[in-house]
Amino acid sequence: PLVSSTALLQVARSQGYGIGAFNVHTLEMLQAVVDAAEETNSPLILQSTVGTVKHLGADYLVAAATTAANRSGVPIALHLDHCTDFDMIIHCIRAGYTSVMIDASMFAFEENVAQTKRIVDIARAAGVNVEAELGKVGGVEDDIVVAEHEALLADPEECARFIELTGVPTLAPAIGTAHGIYKGDPNIDFERIRQVADRVAVPLVLHGGSGIPEEQVKRCISLGMSKMNIATEIRIVFSDAIKQVFAHNPDENDPRKYMVPAKKAVKEAAMEKMRMLGSIGKA
Ligand code: 13P
Ligand code: ZN
Ligand code: NA
Repeated sequence: PLVSSTALLQVARSQGYGIGAFNVHTLEMLQAVVDAAEETNSPLILQSTVGTVKHLGADYLVAAATTAANRSGVPIALHLDHCTDFDMIIHCIRAGYTSVMIDASMFAFEENVAQTKRIVDIARAAGVNVEAELGKVGGVEDDIVVAEHEALLADPEECARFIELTGVPTLAPAIGTAHGIYKGDPNIDFERIRQVADRVAVPLVLHGGSGIPEEQVKRCISLGMSKMNIATEIRIVFSDAIKQVFAHNPDENDPRKYMVPAKKAVKEAAMEKMRMLGSIGKA
């Protein structure tokens, strides 16, 4: 069965490694990151955004992820990424998601606390993990768009107060990363990660994982980040591999053929992230 990600992430935080959380949009992408986790013996978090739930259906996603978890020797959680909609969160918990993100980062602190607490109380009873965001991660994820000048770093004291008030088991503090591929290097505030990690014991989540250089990923993990979200990079390698097939063979019409290199590309990209995160052999 799928497991809740709370315990997985707590172990990761205490042992100083990170768990890759991959946004998947098709069965092949899901299978590719599961293959990567199995081959490296890594714990795994499968994620879908609200857009993907609307595209595929929460029940299909739960069924596919559950099948992966039942066949697999590694622990797998299924997480709903960046959800702003209370009803959608309840829908996904009912369908069998084992982790949900309530993203109320666009609201004032008190409203973020209230919305998060409401979800934490429901999820706790269901044994489901909850992730919340403080500050505002820049970039584009689904239909959440945060311009560079609107991005906002999390305040470490607020993070501590937020955990006390909500009891949320995992926290994504904005520390300078952004969704999508960076123009140049990301501008990560490492000192801020240290300050947040000093004040809160819960596992911290690094958003905007695509495009962060290896050395910086490792530094984030060593400072207390325990989960890294990866969306754009695996979407790009998946799509590029399919484009390549059609560039060479425009008449190809068999998904069982043109999906093969795409799957391989996602698997390799995911394994590379698992290596950076230090999750190899931790399943
Ligand atoms: P990237 O698209 O930069 O990998 O960000 C992923 C993310 O944070 C999903 O929540
Ligand atoms: Zn994100
Ligand atoms: Na990114």
